[in-house]
Order: sequence, then C-alpha cells, then structure tokens
Amino acid sequence: MLHDQIEQALNQQIALEGGSSHAYLAMAVWAETNGFDGVASFLYVHAEEERQHMLKLMRFVNERGGVACVPALESTQDSFEGLEHVFQLILEHETRVTASINDVVDQCLKLKDYTTHNFMQWYVAEQIEEEALARKLLDKLALAGGDKGALYLFDRDITNLDSHE
Ligand code: FEO
Repeated sequence: MLHDQIEQALNQQIALEGGSSHAYLAMAVWAETNGFDGVASFLYVHAEEERQHMLKLMRFVNERGGVACVPALESTQDSFEGLEHVFQLILEHETRVTASINDVVDQCLKLKDYTTHNFMQWYVAEQIEEEALARKLLDKLALAGGDKGALYLFDRDITNLDSHE
C-alpha cells in the first residue's frame, strides 16, 4: 500500500508529466505553423513520450493500491519568439521536472518506500537524457546564430535525431 504522502507526490508528478505533454504539443503546433516541420515532428513525438511518462506513473499508483488522478488540462504558452526560445523553455521545464523527480526519490527514502524508489530510477535516468538532449539542441541553435540556412538544416536534421541518443 502506498503511503499517502508518496501517493500525493506521484500524483503531482503525473500532473507535471501531463503538463509537459500539453506544453510540447503547443510548441509543436507553433513550429508546424511557422515553417519548422522537422521541429514539429520532433515535438509531437516528444509530447507523446511525456504522455507515456504520465501513464506509466498512473498505472504504478493504481497497481500499488493508490488512485491516480487524471490531471486537468491547463492553458499553456502557445506563442514563442523563435526556435531558441522554444528549446530554452524546454530545458527550463525539464530542469524543473528533474527537481520534482529528485524530490519524489527523496521522500521515498525518508519513508523507506524502496519499491517506489526503485520504480523512480527509470525517471532519474530519463531526465539525464532529456536534459542532455535539450542542451545539445540549444548548442546547435547557438551555432546557427539565427542564420536562415543553418536553421533550415537544423529543422531538417532534427527528424533524424533519436530523442534518446
Ligand atoms: Fe517526462 Fe520530459 O519529463
């Protein structure tokens, strides 16, 4: 049986992962309607991955005797200054997600919930990859320096990126 505090922490994480999916969906729409089809494809996939992160947590909460809360959809930012702005927001968002996951892990240790602690290790590893990818893409965009040809190549090449590389 899940400790109430852990159930609450996991439900907060569920809401955060759902919010991530929603935020990346809005970014995908912005990219698609601003001529960045490659970035849009990447972000649609990313949004779907975040939904899977949410579902994985929901199933775990329910399996452990808790009840997963389906988060309400909240309005999210849907206008951006450019690709660098989008990926800067993604990095900031993922940094917040990492902090939240670390907080859940910390609570698991304090309450001696080693099962949830073990389950959360997948998320800890996932965050390392997600933050590294966001930094790598930001570095590429910094190199492009707003040059239209370079942004065209960035948009073309991003579809060949494995989001877990
Ligand atoms: Fe599921 Fe990008 O955090």
